[in-house]
Amino acid sequence: MGILCVILSNFFAIYVPVFVRQGLDDAYFNSQLFGYSQSSILYKIIMFNALGFGIAIVLASVLKGVFMFFMRQTLVVASREIEYDQKNELFLKYEKLGEDFYRENYTGDLMSRITEDISNVRMYIGPAIMYFANVLFSFIMIITQMIMVNKHLAFWVIVPLPILSISIYYVSQKINLGNKKIQEQLSVITTHAQETFSGIRILKSFGAEKYFSKDFNDQGVEFQNRNLKLALVNSLFFPLMMLLVGLSTIIVLYVGGREVEKGIFTPGNLAEFVIYLNMLIWPVASLGWTTALVQKASASQKRINDFLNREEIDLQVNDNDLSFLNQIELIQVSHRYIDKNENALTDISLKISKGEIIGITGKTGSGKSTLLQLLTKQIQVQTGQITIDNQKISNLPLNAYRKMIAYVPQDVFLFSDTIEANIAFGVSEYSLEQLDEIIRITCLDKDIALFEHGKNTILGERGVSLSGGQKQRVSLARALMKNSDILILDDCLSAVDAETESRIIYNLKEVFKNKTVIITSHRVSPLQHANVINILEKGRIVESGNHEFLISFGGYYQWLYENQTS
Ligand SMILES: Nc1ncnc2c1ncn2[C@@H]1O[C@H](COP(=O)(O)OP(=O)(O)O)[C@@H](O)[C@H]1O
Ligand SMILES: [Mg+2]
Repeated sequence: MGILCVILSNFFAIYVPVFVRQGLDDAYFNSQLFGYSQSSILYKIIMFNALGFGIAIVLASVLKGVFMFFMRQTLVVASREIEYDQKNELFLKYEKLGEDFYRENYTGDLMSRITEDISNVRMYIGPAIMYFANVLFSFIMIITQMIMVNKHLAFWVIVPLPILSISIYYVSQKINLGNKKIQEQLSVITTHAQETFSGIRILKSFGAEKYFSKDFNDQGVEFQNRNLKLALVNSLFFPLMMLLVGLSTIIVLYVGGREVEKGIFTPGNLAEFVIYLNMLIWPVASLGWTTALVQKASASQKRINDFLNREEIDLQVNDNDLSFLNQIELIQVSHRYIDKNENALTDISLKISKGEIIGITGKTGSGKSTLLQLLTKQIQVQTGQITIDNQKISNLPLNAYRKMIAYVPQDVFLFSDTIEANIAFGVSEYSLEQLDEIIRITCLDKDIALFEHGKNTILGERGVSLSGGQKQRVSLARALMKNSDILILDDCLSAVDAETESRIIYNLKEVFKNKTVIITSHRVSPLQHANVINILEKGRIVESGNHEFLISFGGYYQWLYENQTS
């Protein structure tokens, strides 16, 4: 439909110069016929005919305009819809990609592909195709028309056009390169600013303002330089184009003028050709520009495809709920991160029965978090097996599996939303009693009471308005709200003061009663009620047993206990 509109719009546009020619020729021939002595009759005829041609020109222009409108309405609208689809497709893809992907790629890159690259592709689907179709049809139509009217003059109009087109292509290339460099510098500046402001407290406490300002300033100067370079190219672009256009016009006027003199050609013809020339200029100019757009879009689509073709972590989707009945078993599980030459976990075998509380402790870097990430299927099992009720977890649908588990990660992440929304994140239905109960369990009630808006207090970006311990407790509350069979807690009370911690642990006993819990900690207090405590060292289980057994065992746990109780 869009391309049909392009054709129709060009079809009517062609009539404008034709009517101009006819109108001028009409006046010219009539004045020769009647002579200037009969000026009153002559004026009447000319006036009358001129009015007719004038109306015809207006009509042709209006029709051209109408179809141009529909051309944009179809092609540009279609490109916007494709852009919308592509954004959603990529966003959904992002959600399905695993840890590895996010470790390899920067957030900035993910963002630029979903915004800038997709917008480049849209520029191709919309404007580039539109202008290209326009060039193609206006060329075919105008050139046919010119050749029909006057072959010789047509030649002189066409000759300079390739030069114009090629030079515009080269200048566009330069402009694009300049734009790319500006974009790159802009992303450096954005990243710098973003890091500065998210780390503003550290920056201030270290008195590093001057250093950061200087850095920012240097990057700003570079940005400015690149912009000025581009401005130079840009300001050469238009004069150059106008020069070439002016030269073509002069050639047409000169060659055509001589033919009018000789009587081969009418003045109306000359006017018609000047208009054709002007009609050809924009399409030809846009040819260089559209070529550059196509190249840009092609590079962008490649970048988008890079991500779209990535393997998704889990394709199985299952709406049936799973339930945990009996036992989770780790059989000889080992794990090594891609860029490491040492295992993060080696030969871990563990049995976790329903209803048990399993504690895990060990020094930093001993593999606690890795173990929990394997259990939650955030990272894939490489060697060995993890089964739940004798089924390999790798065969279970991810969404159903994750529904069964509530997980509190070591690194807290809060959304810039209300406290309530952060706690009830991912739970569609809950009662207020439920929420208050969980707030009480995590000892958040006193903290919330101090906020002016209570539970409806909006947490700042990344929850800056909360203390470290408060954030951890919100994160814990979020997991408890999910009310899953299995609870996995990764060092989730490390920033909570000892007194609050012991109150929470006391409260949690009630919650833990009908759940299976796996908890890691550096402190003895959250672990001592566990059925079994495992001590990890360099990725291996070196001690295992309950609290009473381990404090007399003489190993790391005993040392930890004595250190923390003395
Ligand atoms: N995403 C990762 N990529 C590479 N190595 C990692 C990654 N996460 C953890 N490690 C490494 O694995 C080991 C165990 O880390 P982790 O499981 O976080 O220990 P813990 O939770 O006991 O402090 C450490 O040596 C750590 O450097
Ligand atoms: Mg950890």
